[in-house]
Amino acid sequence: MTLEVAKEAAGHRAVRFIEDDMIVGLGTGSTACYFIDALIEKCQQGLKIEAVASSEASASKARDGRIRVLDINAITQVDITVDGADEIDQQKRMIKGGGGAHTREKILAAASKEMIVVVDETKLVNSIGQTKLPVEILHYGSPITRNRIERQGYKGQWRLAKDGSIFLTDNGNPIFDIYFDFPPPFPEEDHERLLNTLGVIDTGFFFNLAGRVIIGHTDGRVTIQT
Ligand code: A5P
Repeated sequence: MTLEVAKEAAGHRAVRFIEDDMIVGLGTGSTACYFIDALIEKCQQGLKIEAVASSEASASKARDGRIRVLDINAITQVDITVDGADEIDQQKRMIKGGGGAHTREKILAAASKEMIVVVDETKLVNSIGQTKLPVEILHYGSPITRNRIERQGYKGQWRLAKDGSIFLTDNGNPIFDIYFDFPPPFPEEDHERLLNTLGVIDTGFFFNLAGRVIIGHTDGRVTIQT
């Protein structure tokens, strides 16, 4: 429960940075959901914005709250994207994709004047790579791509859906979750290596994308890293 307090505090605080006429990028995941809830409320009070979403789930939540969700292919720039993270270090390097949406999330973040990250305090780490690194792989030939990744020494497994079938992203692709024995000392190199592997769409590493980081604490406090 207290973790929910922290996520809610971070998500709700982010709405203060949203202004009239902005195009707002909607992240995915439980913390981003709290932001969307607060955004819906602010729009009901008169805030005028349009949104683009990083997942079908976030798009549908926003539409249910009567927020206008634009087609991603109808825009070239986003004002602010608000999104969560699975891990973030002191240099604001992140791992995302716990919800399987990292490719779309990165496209939104990179197109934004600012990506505001909303996290609970448990997401702060000394070195990223503690849990898993999600890698989205083109569905076509995915076992071949998986082999190619494993031949480079990475270990992992296909992400599974609740019913035990292979999970597919909103893009229709599987995710290979890589597990490191210890946090990689040079994550940028792993990212490059994986990205250069034929069939890999994107990794969950996010570098040089985070702007302000809003951290929710379990006692309901919020701190902001600029
Ligand atoms: C979705 O694919 C992810 O990148 C999420 O942003 C990330 O997993 C954080 O999710 P929570 O806010 O639910 O922890």
